[in-house]
Amino acid sequence: MKGPIAILGARGMLGTDLAAQCAKAGLATVVFDLPEFDITKVDAIRRAIGGASAVVNCAAYTNVEKAEAEPELAAKINAEAVGLLGELAKQAGVAVLHISTDFVFDGRLDRPYAETDPANPVSAYGRTKYQGELALAQSGCRHCIIRVQWTYGRAGVNFVRKILDAARSGKPMKVVSDQVGSPTATAEAAKAVVAMLQLPSGLPQGLYHFAAAGFVSRFDMARHIVERLQLSVVPQPCKTSDFVTAAQRPLNSCFDCRKIARVLPEPIAEWQGPLNAYLESL
Ligand SMILES: NC(=O)c1ccc[n+]([C@@H]2O[C@H](COP(=O)([O-])OP(=O)(O)OC[C@H]3O[C@@H](n4cnc5c(N)ncnc54)[C@H](OP(=O)(O)O)[C@@H]3O)[C@@H](O)[C@H]2O)c1
Repeated sequence: MKGPIAILGARGMLGTDLAAQCAKAGLATVVFDLPEFDITKVDAIRRAIGGASAVVNCAAYTNVEKAEAEPELAAKINAEAVGLLGELAKQAGVAVLHISTDFVFDGRLDRPYAETDPANPVSAYGRTKYQGELALAQSGCRHCIIRVQWTYGRAGVNFVRKILDAARSGKPMKVVSDQVGSPTATAEAAKAVVAMLQLPSGLPQGLYHFAAAGFVSRFDMARHIVERLQLSVVPQPCKTSDFVTAAQRPLNSCFDCRKIARVLPEPIAEWQGPLNAYLESL
């Protein structure tokens, strides 16, 4: 591979683990993030692309609730900037690996989502992420989009940390039992991204779903965390409709990952192992 991998959004939850995973794999990287790098600025993107062998875009507006009140800003970062990145990458002949989300789906399907299932986002965040996917594809650059879901990692606010904070508060803990997915460590997602970048046949083009193996409800995930850490709180199940939130969330976030599993060099780990390792590391 000629030139380093440019990681955009490198101080975020996934970007942090991706930079660490690239270092482990011996891949040179250059890292970019706010405040010195703003993906909505043409010159900033040009600088990031210049000299890179590939760009991995982890930069995103990720506050799902706030996006309902700031859809224009979310669209600028998640959609317009991604289209611009694609256009400039095409001009420079650089491939883009872009990260997207299960929020492109409405979550009403009765089986895990495959890459061929139609998107139908039900939130401003999901709509802007889907527009970003389309804009990248329309730019005509060489690209690969990997959708991830239910991620947690050491560098960000995530469901695991929220459960731990709730447990520490000593208040009764209510957790939704009607949202189902696969708790996915950003460290595992980062490994998959690095493996895709290092495939001997080159970065595959197209759309891929990546998540840990196995499915669980948010409630059962919370129970797993509480039991594993021997916390004294007992989570109580509730329904998504019991909470008033600005953004609607997909109830079914399960991914069919057979497409990416066919190209990855190692089998995808079940969700429990990486989650236990993460809990021990806290
Ligand atoms: N977290 C999840 O559960 C989840 C699930 C599915 C998919 N994803 C996707 O995974 C990818 C990585 O997200 P993450 O979980 O790592 O989120 P994150 O921790 O919020 O990381 C996003 C990074 O992008 C940066 N950023 C925001 N606006 C920017 C701008 N204008 N220019 C440059 N950088 C900017 C953020 O900086 P600031 O922190 O300073 O704003 C942050 O460092 C995203 O594409 C997200 O949509 C996440």
